[in-house]
Amino acid sequence: MTRVEDIDTPALVVDLDAMDRNLAAMADFARDHGLRLRPHAKMHKSAWIAQRQVALGAVGVCVQKTSEAEALARAGVRDLFISNEVIDRAKLARVAALSHRVKLAIAVDDALGIERLAACGADVDVFVEIDVGHGRCGVAPADAADLARRIRDAGLRFAGLQAYHGRAQHLRGVEERSGAIEAAGAAVRAARAALDAQRIECALVTGAGSGSFVLEAASGLWGELQVGSYVFMDRDYADNESMPGAPRFDHALFVKSQVMSRHADRAVVDAGHKSHAIDSGLPRVWGRDDLEFANGGDEHGILRANRPGAPLPALGETVWLVPGHCDPTVNLHDTMVGVRGGLEQGVVERLIRVDARGALS
Ligand SMILES: Cc1ncc(COP(=O)(O)O)c(C=O)c1O
Repeated sequence: MTRVEDIDTPALVVDLDAMDRNLAAMADFARDHGLRLRPHAKMHKSAWIAQRQVALGAVGVCVQKTSEAEALARAGVRDLFISNEVIDRAKLARVAALSHRVKLAIAVDDALGIERLAACGADVDVFVEIDVGHGRCGVAPADAADLARRIRDAGLRFAGLQAYHGRAQHLRGVEERSGAIEAAGAAVRAARAALDAQRIECALVTGAGSGSFVLEAASGLWGELQVGSYVFMDRDYADNESMPGAPRFDHALFVKSQVMSRHADRAVVDAGHKSHAIDSGLPRVWGRDDLEFANGGDEHGILRANRPGAPLPALGETVWLVPGHCDPTVNLHDTMVGVRGGLEQGVVERLIRVDARGALS
């Protein structure tokens, strides 16, 4: 039995008690609202966590990349949605091969993608992605019907609309986020009207993230939630104003670090941005609001007091960091250490393989 205090540093640690509470809270929310749950596995990249989500009622998981789908399928996940466009012929051949081994769905936003998907003999459900305000992938709502018709004409299955507003997730205020999802809802209505006008049935609208899912659920327009980050809850999400009606989610992902150098004005820990992603900002020091983390480079983090008199941790002391952004942080590690019984007194219950680490193609 390995105690938490014996975990070597730096290490990516999952508080399994917090993770289980988060998993259950979202599963209950979806069930209580009569919604399908298809969590996004791009966040944890782990077949073991995906299977826990499915055991709690999820219909399957989303992934973002072909190789991510392949990695999770290899590790036993049987129902996958590539919630993203794939246009490269060689990748589409892999999509087709995978579609004969697991239940598979994919998103499209162009006739070329549909043509190539049909040409490679893929057995997939196809969602038309509409741009609901993110300004990334997705067609204008009015063009959804044309693509849906092309999907059918190509002998593929039109499964519905993908409507995800990524930028809305981190709008800090509830009011701003509500406005963004209201506009996204108008886009969904417009796409559905275009489909209705051509008598094309839209069986499902899928989308929503951890910052906005309460709003999509309340709209009555979305039938499936693709939430991802709720499992681990990073610092960036904790900085959002919490949404009324949302369940509580706790931080479950931490970098365990150790003070390796100590000076009068600073303590230096052994975790830099090779241990945690910094695209959404620096980590927060868990349980120590009086300490500020500064980037010390690849392998170092520098802690300084941000209140007069705040004591710096001692040489050799453990410091727990809450990463700024969970998805790219997980992708930096081969394994996560799952602990039970808390960060102070707990024990290591399992190593969680990041099955799709580096699966970016
Ligand atoms: C298409 C899609 N759906 C769902 C999600 C999950 O969002 P979150 O991790 O904010 O819950 C993402 C995340 O980027 C996404 O790209």
